[in-house]
Amino acid sequence: MNQKIVIIANWKCNPSTEREAENLLREIKKGIKKIRNTEVIIVPPFVYLPVVRDKILLKSKEGIWKVGAQNCFWENSGAFTGEISPLMLKELGVEYVILGHSERRIYFGETDEVIAKKLKAILENKLSPILCIGETKEGREEKKIEKVLKRQLKEILSPISRFSLPTSDLVIAYEPIWAIGTGDFCSPDEAKKALLFIKKELIEILPRYLSQNIRIIYGGSVDSENAKNYINIGFKGLLIGGASLIPQEFIKIVNSCNLQ
Ligand code: PGA
Repeated sequence: MNQKIVIIANWKCNPSTEREAENLLREIKKGIKKIRNTEVIIVPPFVYLPVVRDKILLKSKEGIWKVGAQNCFWENSGAFTGEISPLMLKELGVEYVILGHSERRIYFGETDEVIAKKLKAILENKLSPILCIGETKEGREEKKIEKVLKRQLKEILSPISRFSLPTSDLVIAYEPIWAIGTGDFCSPDEAKKALLFIKKELIEILPRYLSQNIRIIYGGSVDSENAKNYINIGFKGLLIGGASLIPQEFIKIVNSCNLQ
């Protein structure tokens, strides 16, 4: 059972050149030396995966550094123009795949049904999913947070209890959509309520051996000031967007969580 704190750098559609990507990674790696019970997963755009892999995996001690992808398709090959398959990612040395990010839902119309199909393909290829769930601003204002989380978890995860997950590591990221990229982070009290609710729902949806193995992390305007608050209240890690592109900020976040 992997219970290490996991800090994930989601670079989204950044930076614009491979050289910048290499520099960013170099800066980050320079500042993060002694990590003990923490994993750092770098999730660049697809085209930088080989360079990130080469710079990270070959030199990674004790498996601290990992490589993730931001998305994938649900078939392993075929006539699907523009798609990247889980098998291709696996072959590249990718271990984790972000799934159901709100930007995929909003700009590319991904539904819970599509996300469930992708989850199945990811698990069948023995990759580990980082499944994002979370409510919109309206959902929060209408006090429907639990209803939304319940629906997302049920529709995406229920089908997987029908087949086993021998080697995958499951991560669920609670990412309130209103907090992503806005600077308006979720207060630890509010985030804790969501964390406890997600834990309860997982026990209902999945067999116990699976639900206990899942790491639940927080994402949404995490910075070096607020990061450790989420770890202190029981989240097992953080999904970081904007701050992962600023080496000094990301380094501070990893180091502060590593000292917990
Ligand atoms: P943010 O993004 O840290 O910029 O809010 C988080 C995410 O989208 O995963």
